[in-house]
Amino acid sequence: MKFGIVCASDRCAAGLCEDQSGALLQELVAPLSEETFYVLVPDDKAQIANALRSLADEKGADIILTTGGTGFAPRDVTPEATKTVIDREAPGISEAIRMKSLAVTPNAMLSRAVSGIRGKTLIINLPGSPKAVRESMDVILPVFPHAVETLSGNTQSCGGNYGK
Ligand code: MTE
Repeated sequence: MKFGIVCASDRCAAGLCEDQSGALLQELVAPLSEETFYVLVPDDKAQIANALRSLADEKGADIILTTGGTGFAPRDVTPEATKTVIDREAPGISEAIRMKSLAVTPNAMLSRAVSGIRGKTLIINLPGSPKAVRESMDVILPVFPHAVETLSGNTQSCGGNYGK
């Protein structure tokens, strides 16, 4: 699987802090990844959208994970950028993350994260903190192999009971 990781953060992009969440994401996907591309951008809708397009269309990423910019702060625009590049929504992924995360913290309802599909690439928004990234990845990592399988058109192992 090829992964794209996009960190959206004004502070990290300006060199004022280290992107711990991007580093954590690289570590978490490593067991599934043949290649991982990393991009750091400020909280800018056009730059986030460009990064997503480039990772999907030029690098051929199967799954792109974004971190940061999903909250209510005026500069949080990652969901808006994501919506401009996806062809189809995949709401179940963000619903599952929020549902499980709400059991950990009520602040989970403050994430406006979205998920969707561009061509054969699945794009998933995650919140910015390493804690939230880890909790979210615990929920979604197990479905990555089947998600990529179905994105490529292979639905043979779906449920295993078709036509019976
Ligand atoms: N989700 C999980 N699993 N764990 C968390 O600690 N923090 C929340 C939320 N989602 C959190 C979480 C908080 S405090 C905010 S403000 C929103 O994500 C948005 O975060 P972002 O603006 O960094 O994307």
